[in-house]
Amino acid sequence: MHAAVGRLALTAWVAGLGLAGAFPFERRGGQGQKPVPDDYYVSLGPRPYYLIQNMTDGPLKSKLESCENGPFEVTSWSIGHRGGGTLQIPEETVQSTLAGARMGAGILECDVSFTKDRGLVCRHDVCDLHTTTDILLRPELAAKCTRPFTPANATHAASALCCTSDITTEEFTSLCSKMDGFNATATTAEDFQHGVPFFRTELYDTCGQVMTLDSYIELVDSLPGHRNFTPELKTPPAAVPMPFHGYTQAQYARDMIDTFIAHGISPARVYPQSFTPADVYLWLNEYPAWGAQAVFLDEDGDDPANFTTAVNRLPALKASGVNIISPPINYLLAVGGPDNKTVVPSDYAIVAKQAGLEIISWSFERSGPLTRVLADDDYYYSSVAPIMHYDGQMYEVLDVLGRQIGVKAMFSDWSATVTYYANCFGLKGPGH
Ligand SMILES: *[C@@H]1O[C@H](CO)[C@@H](O)[C@H](O)[C@H]1NC(C)=O
Ligand SMILES: *[C@@H]1O[C@H](CO)[C@@H](O)[C@H](O)[C@H]1NC(C)=O
Ligand SMILES: *[C@@H]1O[C@H](CO)[C@@H](O)[C@H](O)[C@H]1NC(C)=O
Ligand SMILES: *[C@@H]1O[C@H](CO)[C@@H](O)[C@H](O)[C@H]1NC(C)=O
Ligand SMILES: *[C@@H]1O[C@H](CO)[C@@H](O)[C@H](O)[C@H]1NC(C)=O
Repeated sequence: MHAAVGRLALTAWVAGLGLAGAFPFERRGGQGQKPVPDDYYVSLGPRPYYLIQNMTDGPLKSKLESCENGPFEVTSWSIGHRGGGTLQIPEETVQSTLAGARMGAGILECDVSFTKDRGLVCRHDVCDLHTTTDILLRPELAAKCTRPFTPANATHAASALCCTSDITTEEFTSLCSKMDGFNATATTAEDFQHGVPFFRTELYDTCGQVMTLDSYIELVDSLPGHRNFTPELKTPPAAVPMPFHGYTQAQYARDMIDTFIAHGISPARVYPQSFTPADVYLWLNEYPAWGAQAVFLDEDGDDPANFTTAVNRLPALKASGVNIISPPINYLLAVGGPDNKTVVPSDYAIVAKQAGLEIISWSFERSGPLTRVLADDDYYYSSVAPIMHYDGQMYEVLDVLGRQIGVKAMFSDWSATVTYYANCFGLKGPGH
C-alpha cells in the first residue's frame, strides 16, 4: 500500500515535469519490448530478506540491505526454472510460471516433451508423469503407461513409468500437476502420490494446470513487462527410443523452433536449450538466428575423472559456433582463497570466460537449507559443500557467480531470490 502510493505520486511528478524519458526508473520499451505497466508490481516476498538477515556482516550484506525497498523490476538475469515457483508450486504449470513472473523473472522456462500424437508439451522429462501428475489415479490413462504402477513389496520399491509419448495431447491436457515426488514404499497408487522433499511442500498440489508449448508461449507473451522464453528440448530416455514411430530427434528440434515462428515470436526473445549437441548444431545450421542464442547444457563433467576434459573442450565449443554454455553451478565454483575457505571461480569458469563464451547457470534454490548440503550429498553445491554452513551464504555464492564470474543469467526454483540480487546490482540478463 505504502509503496503503491509512493509510485503513483512519483509517476505524476515525473509526467508533470515532462521528464519521463530521463527518469532512471522509467520502464523502457524498445524494439519488440513491452514496458511494465505502472500498475504491475514485481513482488518478492520474505525469502530474500531472510537470506540477507542471515549473512555475515560485510560490504555485500550492506549493499543488499540498501536495496530492501527496491525498486524491483522484471530482469532477464532471473530465469524461472520450470516456471520459477518450483520450490513450492508444481513445476511446468501455469501457476509456477505466474509465480516466477510475479517474482520478476524476465525469462521463463518450459521443458519441451512430445506426446503420442507429436504435440509439444511442457514437462521436465518425457517420462515423469507418474511423479509429476495424477495420471496413476486416472485408470483409463494409467492403463496407457509404459509401465503401470507396481506396489512395493519386501524386496522391491514401488514403481511406474508414464511418458508424455504414451498419451495424446488432449489426454495430457486433462492431467493435474503436482509436486515432483513419490513414495517408494507405497502399496497403493494413492500413497504413491506423496513423497516430496522435506523443504518443498504439497500446499499447492491442488491440480496445477499443465501447459502445451503453444499455451506456454501465449501465456508468457501475455504477461506484463518484457518477457523472454527458454524452451529446453528434452532427449527422451531409453524407454522411448528415437525415432519414435518415425519421429526423429531432428524433426522434434525443428518443431520446437517452428512453434515459436508460428506464434510470430522474435528469435531475440528465445534461448533454446539442449543437452544434446546435435540439437544445438541443427539450430545453428538450419535456424541461425535461433542457434545464435542456443544454450548448450553441459553435464559432461559430472564424473570427476571427466571434469578436466569438459573444461578443455570449451574453446572448441566456442569455435564451433556455440555462444552460450550452461553448466550447473557446481562446475563454476571451487574452494580457494588465502584461507582455502572461500568460494572462488573454478577453472571451468575461468576457461569459459577466456574462450568468450557467455555463461547461464542452474539452478538456484533447488537444494534446501545449506546446513544439510554436505551431509545430503547435494549436487549443486557439491564443489563447495565443505564450506557451506548457513543460508546467508547463498548470496555469497550468487555474488561469485554474478559479479566475479559474470554469468549472464541464473535459473532459480524461486525467482525472488535471484531477482532481488539482480536488481540490487543492475544486472539485466543476456545481451546486456
Ligand atoms: C545464520 O543461521 C544459522 C543457523 O542456520 C545461525 O547459526 C547463524 O548464527 C546465522 N547467522 C547470522 C549472521 O544470523
Ligand atoms: C515384488 O515385486 C517385484 C516387482 O516389483 C516382483 O518381481 C516380485 O515377484 C515381488 N515379490 C513378491 C514376493 O511378490
Ligand atoms: C507411503 O506408503 C505407505 C504404504 O502404502 C504408507 O503407509 C505411508 O503412509 C506412505 N507415506 C506417505 C508419506 O504418504
Ligand atoms: C567419461 O568420459 C568417457 C569418455 O568420453 C565416457 O565413456 C564416460 O561415460 C564418461 N563418464 C561419465 C560419467 O559421463
Ligand atoms: C582446499 O579445500 C578443498 C576442499 O575443502 C580441498 O579439496 C583442497 O585440497 C584444499 N586445498 C589446499 C591447497 O589445501
